[in-house]
Formats: sequence, C-alpha cells, structure tokens
Amino acid sequence: MAADIDEDWLANLPKVELHIHLEGSIPTAMLLTLASKYGEDLPGPVEKLYEFDGLKSFLEFLDWICGLIRSNDDLESIAYEFARRLSEQRVSYAEVIVNPTHWSRHWTLDRLSEGLIAGFERAADEGLTDCRLLLSLLRTQSSDAAEGLVDWMIANRNPRIVGLSIDGNEQAAGRTGPRFAHAFAKARGAGIATTAHAGESSGPEGVWDALDLLRVNRIDHGVRAAEDPKLLARLAREEIVLNVCLTSNLVLLYPSIELHPLRKLLESGVRVTVNTDDPELLGITLTSEWAKVASLCGWSREDAVATTRRTIDAAFCDEVRKRELHLELDYYLGLENSEK
Ligand code: ADE
Ligand code: ZN
Repeated sequence: MAADIDEDWLANLPKVELHIHLEGSIPTAMLLTLASKYGEDLPGPVEKLYEFDGLKSFLEFLDWICGLIRSNDDLESIAYEFARRLSEQRVSYAEVIVNPTHWSRHWTLDRLSEGLIAGFERAADEGLTDCRLLLSLLRTQSSDAAEGLVDWMIANRNPRIVGLSIDGNEQAAGRTGPRFAHAFAKARGAGIATTAHAGESSGPEGVWDALDLLRVNRIDHGVRAAEDPKLLARLAREEIVLNVCLTSNLVLLYPSIELHPLRKLLESGVRVTVNTDDPELLGITLTSEWAKVASLCGWSREDAVATTRRTIDAAFCDEVRKRELHLELDYYLGLENSEK
C-alpha cells in the first residue's frame, strides 16, 4: 500500500460494490438461529461450516442457506440487514446477485423478489445503502429455464432490478455459451443490462464466449483472461469491466496471492473493480478487501478514487444516480481536503 492509504481511510471512503451474492452474505448467527428454529441439521460441525473443497460444495452450501429462509418477515429482514451492514462499511450503492435456483425450495420468483425489494426499499428510505438486484441464472440450468427468468424480468420491471447475471459452476456445466445466448439476446433486446461469471471455473474460453455469445456488459471474475494475451488486449480495448474478488479467488482458485493475476490485468490496461463475492462465507468486508488489493497493487489514494469512479461508471443504474454517486465522492474528497 502507498504511504497515503490505510484501512481507516478506506473504511471512510464512500464505496460501490458490483459483485456480491446475497446468499453468501448472511451472518453465521442468523443461520444458526434459523437452523434451530426449523430443526434443520447443520451440514457439518459449526467450526468447519465454511470449509469448502471447491466451488461445487460452496454452491451446495448456498442451497442449504436459502432453505433456512421461509417466512416473508425473515426474507425482508435479511434484505434490510444486508443493506444496514453495507452502510456500516460506508457502501453507498451495491448491485446484489440473487440466484433464484438456490431459493427454489421455499420461494417463487414473485414472492422472493417482492420480499427482497421490500427490505431494500425500507433500507433506502432510511438512508442506508442503495441496494439493487441482479437476478441470476445458474450455469447448469436449461435454456428454457433461462428464458423463463428473462421473460419474468421483462414482465416485472422494477427500478430495484437492474440486470441479468449468470453464475454457478462452468467447469461442471461444460461449454454453455450457446445454450444461454438466446436468453441473453432477449434480455439485451429488452434493454436489460447483463453480466456473467466467466474466467473463474472456466479458462479464457469462458470469457470469449461471454463476450461473443452472451454479449455481456461486464464480467464477474474474468481473472483467467490473464492466460490469453489476445483476450487481455480485447478487454482493454473494449473497456470491459471485470468485477474481481481477490479473496474468493484465493479460496477457490489460486493457491497463493503471488499467483493471482490482478497486477497483470491492471498492467494490461484492463478495467477492474474490487468486490467481495460472498463476504460472510469468506470472512471479509469490502474495506478489508480493498486493503488487500491496495497492498498487493501498491495503490495510492488517487488509484483508489479512480477505481471507485470506474466502478460507478460500470453500474447498471441510471445516469442521474451515477452522477449522485460521483458527487458524493467529490463531497467526501472535498471535505477531506478542507480538513488538511
Ligand atoms: N455463486 C456464489 N459465489 C460464486 C462464485 N464464486 N462462482 C460462481 N457462482 C457463485
Ligand atoms: Zn460471484
């Protein structure tokens, strides 16, 4: 980290997050309370709850978590409390990935989105973090199921639902770009912004397909693009933003931080943002993640501010809201300078 930046400064910086899964953001205490309320066994000993041997067991655990949430009140309060915790981290705005397949034991899409929107609205009314939804497909779903979600999104427009995402295990699913191309084209045709997990459990070929077949606006992770110089050049040239999650990659992908390609991505001119992915499962916050990235990349305050501005620009909300987020940052920096 450069001399002018530390964790306190990062904690106070108004931040924006574009890659965080609600399913991986529910505190352990809440999970234990719900498990005992419904008499559900834990999948393993509590001290080993977050030990995963790869993405497969990680994703199965998300199904277990969502199976614990059954009442409208619990759902609304999970959304509200999520926004409250992000506010404590000084996150001004977040795009929150929710994958309805993890919730399908107890929730229809109508009830799920209604409860989450109610919680996010209450939080926003109280001046807490402005949370928007990215509804997500699972890589192992069928093309019909994917179109079903997109049709639902087209029929149920809401300013709190800002885009379509796809996550899950690309390695287990095989090459699925062709399977989902039509659903993504339909979303795009209806003016719905899109993002895709790629170049995490897939190699660079997953990122090529996300660009060429899904034609997404942004990529979640995308870090394995670093293995392909032509792809790096394209990402830089076309100004495609990669929503990178360093700690998540260190748990699920790279055995050590020295092997993580973040610096290579930056040196190649690729636009990256800093995100937490599944903060409760990984034991991190957005501030701790920023500190880790700043330390790895030797960032100064100027780098951190530039990255925040880039994150705002890549958000899927409207231009007026983006302008407000830039102004909030200006105001914070202005105040900071006047205190010197
Ligand atoms: N869902 C939640 N976290 C994920 C990750 N890291 N990769 C793919 N799908 C996910
Ligand atoms: Zn993710």
